[in-house]
Amino acid sequence: MSKQDVAGNAEVPEAQAVSESEIAVHWKEEATIYPSPEFIGQANLTDPGMFERFSLENFPECYKEYADLLDWDQYWHTTLDTSDAPCWKWFVGGRINACYNCVDRHLPKYKNKAAIHFVPEPEDEPLYAITYQELYVRVNEFAALLRDFAGLKQGDRVTLHMPMVPELPVTMLACARLGVIHSEVFGGFSGQAAADRIADSGCRVLITVDGYHRAGKMINHKVNADVACEMAEKLGQTVDKVLIWQRYPGKSVSDTPMVEGRDFIVNDVLKKYAGKRIDPVSLPAEDPLFLMYTSGTTGKPKGCQHSIGGYMAYVAGTSKYIQDIHPEDVYWCMADIGWITGHSYIVYGPLALAASTVIYEGVPTYPDAGRAWRIAERLDVNIFHTAPTTIRMLRKAGPDEPKKYNYHFKHMTTVGEPIEPEVWKWYYEVVGKGEAIIVDTWWQTETGGFLCSTVPALHPMKPGSTGPALPGIHPVIYDEDGNELKAGSGKAGNICIRNPWPGAFQTIWGDRERYVDTYYAKYCKDPNSKDWRDWPYLTGDGAMLAADGYYRILGRIDDVINVAGHRLGTKELESAALTVEDIAEAAVVPVVDEIKGRVPDVYVSLKPGFDSDEEAKRKVVAAIETTIGKIARPKNVYIVPDMPKTRSGKIMRRVLAAISNTLDIGDVMTLANPDVVEDIRVLVQGKEKVATKKGPEDIERFGDD
Ligand code: WT7
Repeated sequence: MSKQDVAGNAEVPEAQAVSESEIAVHWKEEATIYPSPEFIGQANLTDPGMFERFSLENFPECYKEYADLLDWDQYWHTTLDTSDAPCWKWFVGGRINACYNCVDRHLPKYKNKAAIHFVPEPEDEPLYAITYQELYVRVNEFAALLRDFAGLKQGDRVTLHMPMVPELPVTMLACARLGVIHSEVFGGFSGQAAADRIADSGCRVLITVDGYHRAGKMINHKVNADVACEMAEKLGQTVDKVLIWQRYPGKSVSDTPMVEGRDFIVNDVLKKYAGKRIDPVSLPAEDPLFLMYTSGTTGKPKGCQHSIGGYMAYVAGTSKYIQDIHPEDVYWCMADIGWITGHSYIVYGPLALAASTVIYEGVPTYPDAGRAWRIAERLDVNIFHTAPTTIRMLRKAGPDEPKKYNYHFKHMTTVGEPIEPEVWKWYYEVVGKGEAIIVDTWWQTETGGFLCSTVPALHPMKPGSTGPALPGIHPVIYDEDGNELKAGSGKAGNICIRNPWPGAFQTIWGDRERYVDTYYAKYCKDPNSKDWRDWPYLTGDGAMLAADGYYRILGRIDDVINVAGHRLGTKELESAALTVEDIAEAAVVPVVDEIKGRVPDVYVSLKPGFDSDEEAKRKVVAAIETTIGKIARPKNVYIVPDMPKTRSGKIMRRVLAAISNTLDIGDVMTLANPDVVEDIRVLVQGKEKVATKKGPEDIERFGDD
């Protein structure tokens, strides 16, 4: 590593002496670790000149290099069209098909190679591989069914509510082949959560699975489809076809009855389309490929709309250069395809590069703490990708398990939340056996692909820091007033990206105004400008830039809780709690959790005449699970006499967050009802006072305006 800034900027200010309290972080700067010569020797990206080629001077044309990893039906005439700022259009004039790029184009060379390895959760059930040829056949037949049986055509939206089975990528690719926009809802979400998304995106077809294995149980998933259709109807959206894949073709694992005329078993209908081939539809590069919903500050999830050409170029490029995927690699990303990580880095990125991607159905520690490592050994996985929450869980369940298995990773990823250096080191030394490099990739549902990470063969790793920005990504950290916080200032601020990039989402489905307000309004230099330089993208994260050019992400600056690496909007949880008739007011705050990072604590006050009993708490938990899903289950529900409020009546969530996390509550005398604070504190913590002065940045700041 030279003295220069890792992003290639010549000048790096010397680190200034910064006092402990100025540094809004909770672990010290760690020493760096260099990639091994073996890794560097085989890596896809070893040329530091890449940063020069992707500098702002060469923007946006530099991204041709990513787009050239794809096969285009027609080359584009405009790399970046800013005429509808801030809705950026990439590779305009180009025509392309995502499915063709993930499947068809690999056939001449790789038709007999595994595209997908499927590992069922039950260990006595054989795992199997789907070759590129087989994937091609399945995708074509299902595309024929979607077109000719379900009547779907280019531009239609379709909701998928599917767990981790190979039929999920088959379905996504079949949609992509036709230009049908898929909107996959995480399988663990409730039927009602699916309904909200069906209604928002206007889907009349729902694709699901009858059931799947999870933690040793067979989950009846079909039942969620019934709830989804019923609730969507109430929201004004009729679902007229439900297509149900069977976990075991020919045999139903769900006893939920079929609805005549609405529900169809996919493999029954598929028989009619055996051997069918559908030409991939040649689509404008800037057409949408899919929607992915994510939580925000209001109760309503946002449908992030991703493009075909830009998104595919970005995930192919980052899979190649940051994930270091080669066609001969066996790549296992343990995320769920129901999240953006799975879309970009289980399905579209790896398949665009003709890799073999692993899909594991179940829980990483089922039936025991060695399961993940047995899978790695058996398939000879050499690239591994997961989240800190899973790493913590694996470490707790079996700190020495990896040693028992003969697998070798060259590359590992951590994603989704900050990773504690101590956990990072276990990942590096024990899981990676000191042989694998680690990339800590920071990005979001909206960004389509990575924003910050080390380039594995070029930069040393620094535990607890995501690293520098990717080639072509130019971040800036602003304080509240829009002043730039420089490298080494020791101050945290709002991290933004100065420039558009091809992987960025195009808009929020049906709500351009919310898109502009949420992501661009804060630091926009001129709302009428068509120049991208006037539109920094607000990520919503707090961050700090060290003198060496490495970013450290501190967490969300909005009312969003990062639970096990996934975003939950506190407003969504609060509105769910308020559906319980006993509840007058609800406030949700994050509480630190050893495994999941953060989990929600729910404070409720009851309406007059309702008793403060266990029953009300149970109802709140049930309401949250049915509205959102088990993933949002609160750690605690507290029934409080009243909420701490300002004189203007605003609930002071920050005070509640301090109580939940036994932090110093600070001065509450200006509140309308200061006395209630101590009552709540005693209720939560007991009589004795044991507050710590400082806590994690996201929690200390939680609820600030
Ligand atoms: C939020 C995005 C990106 C896929 C998974 C989550 C946090 C993400 C990191 C990281 C620290 C991270 C941020 C971000 N985050 N990666 N490497 N280090 N924080 O996607 O649900 O859209 O959440 O996750 O707060 O804004 P998401």
